[in-house]
Amino acid sequence: MSTYPLPVVRRRAEASDTTSLWLQVPSDLVGAFRYRAGQFIAVQAEIGGETLVRQYSLSSTPGAEADLRITVKKVPDGHVSSWLVDRVAEGEVLEVASPRGVFFKEPDVAHHVLLLAAGSGVAPLLPIAQILAASPLGHDINFVYGNRQLDGIILHDEVDELAALDNVTVEHVLTRPHDGWNGGCGRIDRAFIQQNFARWTASTDKPVSAYLCGPEGFMDAAESALMACGLSSADIRRESFDLVLNDDGAEDDIRIVAETDPGDEGECEAIVAVVGGEEVTVVPEPGESILSALIRVEADVPYSCQEGTCSSCISKLTSGAAEVRPAVRQTLRDDDLEEGLVLACLARPTTRRIRIDFDEF
Ligand SMILES: Cc1cc2nc3c(=O)[nH]c(=O)nc-3n(C[C@H](O)[C@H](O)[C@H](O)COP(=O)(O)OP(=O)(O)OC[C@H]3O[C@@H](n4cnc5c(N)ncnc54)[C@H](O)[C@@H]3O)c2cc1C
Ligand code: FES
Repeated sequence: MSTYPLPVVRRRAEASDTTSLWLQVPSDLVGAFRYRAGQFIAVQAEIGGETLVRQYSLSSTPGAEADLRITVKKVPDGHVSSWLVDRVAEGEVLEVASPRGVFFKEPDVAHHVLLLAAGSGVAPLLPIAQILAASPLGHDINFVYGNRQLDGIILHDEVDELAALDNVTVEHVLTRPHDGWNGGCGRIDRAFIQQNFARWTASTDKPVSAYLCGPEGFMDAAESALMACGLSSADIRRESFDLVLNDDGAEDDIRIVAETDPGDEGECEAIVAVVGGEEVTVVPEPGESILSALIRVEADVPYSCQEGTCSSCISKLTSGAAEVRPAVRQTLRDDDLEEGLVLACLARPTTRRIRIDFDEF
């Protein structure tokens, strides 16, 4: 995985355990760091003699400012989050990989969009809200943001600025509100969503879609409530910060087919990968994942976890076929899989030749 040195040009405490860091992109790297709202970067850190890589969503908005911003919440005993929040000072340089991810695709017609965030899950949803709000398509947006208490609300001013726009409403929901709080109270859970869905979408004649980011339990509850309110799984996208790969009780591997010649099935003789504008070819060993084969020949592919939880190895099969472990559905939706998107660490080729592109994401 290629990383680039980006200086930290600004820090701002967002809450007692959360800090935003702004990273400057040198002029010769502007192309490498072009990004879409909702994408993340990987930060590589040397801590205690170990090289650790962690992903952070960009909380800056593409086109609005030149610097990149990440917003990091310290997890208990977390190595990289504690280092970023407590130790990294302005002027230090971070090793960072280019932005990646497929969390957000702007709908191609006007939508009524529910953005449901909890805690640090606001990071990718704030730029998504800003891009949707400014879109000429005319989306309507409900931004619903849950936190424990008022002084824990991350990026508070910027979220509230959205509320000044005609097509956006913002609703804060606190589990531990102070006396006199006149916003929402409690958890954004299944009951809360089912109680409020009709109000959020009452006056709309637009299709409704939803983007979720926050702890897994929050997103599971939100997704099931939204489906009970009539949304389909294709209408809901989620970004996982702390995914644990789960193949339990799952269906068989999912077959992904791109353009392929009849009779091409058989042991793979060539994986051709497009990475950084160049082609790398490798013959996989039997049963080997596409990612493992490429790492074995030291191809400069983006990856970190190698187990389907970090999203770094998202790529697109452009010819041939592959089988992907069903846990891929935790990250990619049916329409992504139909487009040929895969996680290369969970995918094995099943045709003699496949071509896979890492450059678009
Ligand atoms: C696509 C993507 C985008 C992300 N965006 C952000 C972001 O914008 N802001 C942000 O703060 N984090 C974000 N994360 C999470 C981040 O990558 C790290 O996982 C997190 O900072 C913890 O890393 P660590 O090294 O501090 O913890 P580790 O040292 O890896 O783990 C320490 C302990 O914390 C637990 N743990 C690890 N990660 C989490 C977590 N996310 N929540 C709760 N417990 C955890 C582990 O199980 C372990 O017990 C994102 C993750 C992904 C995959
Ligand atoms: S390397 Fe992390 S998802 Fe594949």
